[in-house]
Amino acid sequence: MPRTGLRLKSPDLLVAESGADLEGHGLKRTLGPFQLVCFGIGAIVGTGIFVGLSDTVAEAGPAVLISFILAALTCVFTAFSFAELGGAIPVSGSSYSYTYASLGERAAFLVGWCLLLEYGVSVSAVAIGWGQYLNELLDNTVGWRIPAALAQAPGHGGVVNVPAVVVMLLAAVLLVRGVRESARATAVMAVIKVGILVLFCAIALTAYDAGNLTPFAPEGIGGIGAGASLAFFSFIGFDAISTAGEEVKNPRKNIPLAILVTIGCVALLYCLVSVAAIGAMPWEQVGGKPAALSLIVDRATGSGIGSTVIALGAVVAIASVVLAVMYGQTRILLSMSRDGLVPRVFERVSPKTSTPVANTWIVAVVFAVPAAVVPLDVVLDMTVIGTLAVMAVVNICVPALRRSHPGLQRRFRVPLYPVAPLLGVAFSLYLMCGLPLVTWVQFAVFLAVGALLYALYGRPRSRLARDAEAGPAEAATSSVR
Ligand code: ALA
Repeated sequence: MPRTGLRLKSPDLLVAESGADLEGHGLKRTLGPFQLVCFGIGAIVGTGIFVGLSDTVAEAGPAVLISFILAALTCVFTAFSFAELGGAIPVSGSSYSYTYASLGERAAFLVGWCLLLEYGVSVSAVAIGWGQYLNELLDNTVGWRIPAALAQAPGHGGVVNVPAVVVMLLAAVLLVRGVRESARATAVMAVIKVGILVLFCAIALTAYDAGNLTPFAPEGIGGIGAGASLAFFSFIGFDAISTAGEEVKNPRKNIPLAILVTIGCVALLYCLVSVAAIGAMPWEQVGGKPAALSLIVDRATGSGIGSTVIALGAVVAIASVVLAVMYGQTRILLSMSRDGLVPRVFERVSPKTSTPVANTWIVAVVFAVPAAVVPLDVVLDMTVIGTLAVMAVVNICVPALRRSHPGLQRRFRVPLYPVAPLLGVAFSLYLMCGLPLVTWVQFAVFLAVGALLYALYGRPRSRLARDAEAGPAEAATSSVR
């Protein structure tokens, strides 16, 4: 029963609802721990490291390593919180559902609204990055590039970004076919992209020159902070693991495990890549360059083969991020729809494919629009600020839920409690401060629209409130619906 005002949804009810769906035409539990880690890597390693690394170097210089460490720390502290909450409430709504249980419906709606930035807009950003490397690959292999008019946003020399739209529609096709097929494709792609980054490190380290690291922080603390905000984009996606809560075998154990293993591996890999990159070439020659990893490999090997391999790896890597992040967006909308806060079309699961078909197509088509016509830096900054806001809230959910539900089954508990979640909040706010003012203004407007939608649409249609008003019998029925 919700508490008046806040409308808290009990963790038991959240879990019961998701379990009830498994009995009918709900989602199938098909993912084991290895597939889950691959899914996490699939969701994380993409545009941020392949395209964004050079922009991060431009901000921070050789101290890009510190920027990556700061971004990684933010994610590690927050990953602890996701691991505790994902193990305690293993449902596909992820941070939205944790907030519903801890801070109430209004906060949950706004978190769900921000998740449209973290997942939906993020897919658009990642798809734009994919288009850049596709062009690089075409140039290297067949000596032809997609004309700028069809590969860039308006105002950036183009009219519409066709490759970005195409990769999003392809991901939707794969997702509606079923998660088992998607998980298999994601696992293959995850292995390929880790292999490509390891290969990059091996080649770049042969050209390592410690002299390239001095001066270490030419842009000072400010540059390191701004670099950390950019570097953060490359870590986004680890929480997508928790959106698979209803399709995971033994989720209370496997979700925390997969989140921590994934973030540890990715943080290590990124630090190695950044050290290898800045050691191989003077930072001024890397900063801001498109396809910088290819450039470094070419310089180190003196041939063009390496850059083709890296471009091929990037095309594969980034496509898998589109797939995994789009998947996460559909599962969050599915949870919000179950709660009556967004239209019911998002909760319909096809009995034939066991996937939310209409939901997936709506997400693909709606977020293909910014991918087609908005420049990368704008969608990237909006993704980062929205994600950091969600992460700050998730870190607050941990103490809130421990106080309200001390007896809840928790297979994993945040270490160094309450210092770790507090540091998670502090790091998230610090990285938000590194973003430009215009992004803050856009975000404030975005939040205001979200609050209005909740007041006008979500709140009056809330299933939790309706069931509570209908009395205990209806509330009980809702738990098995
Ligand atoms: N972390 C994801 C990427 O870098 C969003 O593409």
